[in-house]
Amino acid sequence: MQKRIVVYRRLPEALLAELKRDFHVDDFGHLENFEDPAFRAALKEAHGLVGASQKITPEILDAAPHLEAIASVSVGVDNYPVDELTRRGILLCNTPDVLTETTADTGFLLIMATARRAVELADFVRRGEWQASLGASHFGSDVHGKTLGMVGMGRIGAAIARRGALGFGMRILYSNASPKPALEEELGARRRGLDELLGEADFVCVTVPLSPETERLIGQRELGLMRDSAIFVNIARGGVVDEAALIEALDAGRIRAAGLDVFEREPLPADSPLPHMANVVALPHIGSATHETRHAMARRAVDNIRLALSGERPLSPVNEDARPL
Ligand code: DGY
Repeated sequence: MQKRIVVYRRLPEALLAELKRDFHVDDFGHLENFEDPAFRAALKEAHGLVGASQKITPEILDAAPHLEAIASVSVGVDNYPVDELTRRGILLCNTPDVLTETTADTGFLLIMATARRAVELADFVRRGEWQASLGASHFGSDVHGKTLGMVGMGRIGAAIARRGALGFGMRILYSNASPKPALEEELGARRRGLDELLGEADFVCVTVPLSPETERLIGQRELGLMRDSAIFVNIARGGVVDEAALIEALDAGRIRAAGLDVFEREPLPADSPLPHMANVVALPHIGSATHETRHAMARRAVDNIRLALSGERPLSPVNEDARPL
């Protein structure tokens, strides 16, 4: 009997065709509504799930009694109840590595765009307001030679720090659960406590995964420790920051600007003030969204689910304890 896979995120046709050679595939494209009766019926028979950006709840797992593995088309696994999956013997896989450099590019894009006010000034040109050479009220601030404070120094954090140190001569500080001696050697990076880092950095860039430990890690108190000239960048998850406190700090000029690719609620609600603030660059969660990288992520997810359902070791398991590999 062929095993059955439910796909709820659009995958490239060639990769879907590949999966269909060995599995029965129920493809729902980009499914937003998990109440869809056809999806529910497919779940009942599913051995594998491939998708992203949707919360997988214990209730969904109850509806999928044969589930053996989930391949997320993401590196972040905050949408999955990892301990619960492990308890049920369901293997979860993600897509690390293949998106590191692209996501780091997005992080640096936000650093540059906020510091040089690129979006605000491009809008100014678009509105036909560029009538004379600009004065100091339109100037930005330098990036090169400044201090970049990385909150989190995993793969993506390190790739951003590398861009800053090697490309822009920045001094690198980082706060991270464990020290990173190789990066200290390579980039001259220095580890700091979070409070100390916030007080010293010109740019604070958040890359920690969202977990109960990092939820609202940056709140009113932490924002208050930042310099009033400092710029805040978040490419991790919106839940790591108290968004109301961030809006207040930006509004009151307690920090200079923010570059945000992620938000507490996504898509960003229509009544959010963030996209309308001149000192905010708000992007629609495009960290890894290039043709090349999204294809590589889909490739990794397809390989992961194929291996997991064939009883082989997937390329990037998250909860290795779920079942013997
Ligand atoms: C990831 O892979 O976690 C990106 O943030 C896209 O969700």
